[in-house]
Amino acid sequence: MATSIMISSNKFKYFVVLIAVVMSSLHTVECVGLDVGGEKGWATPQDEEMYNDWASKNRFKVNDTLKFAYEKDSVLVVTEEEYEKCRSAHPIFFSNNGDTTFTLDRPGLFYFISGVSGHCQRGLKMVVKVLEVASPPQPAPDQSSPVPASAAAATAAAAALTVFFPMLVGVIFM
Ligand SMILES: *[C@@H]1O[C@H](CO)[C@@H](O)[C@H](O)[C@H]1NC(C)=O
Repeated sequence: MATSIMISSNKFKYFVVLIAVVMSSLHTVECVGLDVGGEKGWATPQDEEMYNDWASKNRFKVNDTLKFAYEKDSVLVVTEEEYEKCRSAHPIFFSNNGDTTFTLDRPGLFYFISGVSGHCQRGLKMVVKVLEVASPPQPAPDQSSPVPASAAAATAAAAALTVFFPMLVGVIFM
């Protein structure tokens, strides 16, 4: 008798931990790694618009990473003006190791060009727009009608049970 109570209380602990883990993972922002240019990589394209076409087909979020695969070339991040003029003298970022991973660490526009003479002019350049961070609405603390903590906890527990009930069942009958 005592044993079975102990087991079910252990199962309950597992369940609580499971909920905590799943809940916290829901708040983790997923980061995506994208291969620039797909299989072709970062190389002077046939079609001058290729890289901007590629970029416009993707949605970039903060902390996504771009992977540039190339040979005998380079990846630079420059200003808009330098991008337009294919100027590579004062890059914000420079890499020529052949396998560059660049983290899109802020929302807004990033201007990539090749630093190899003539390549940017022939279309080895790309503008990437990173979407603004969508912050979840922060519910302002409501002073006028405070919800009793127990009621809030009950609501949260009910929601958790609805979502995670299949898991609970799984844990108990494991
Ligand atoms: C991006 O990564 C940095 C460093 O890991 C982190 O501090 C920041 O919160 C992340 N931003 C987003 C929107 O995920």
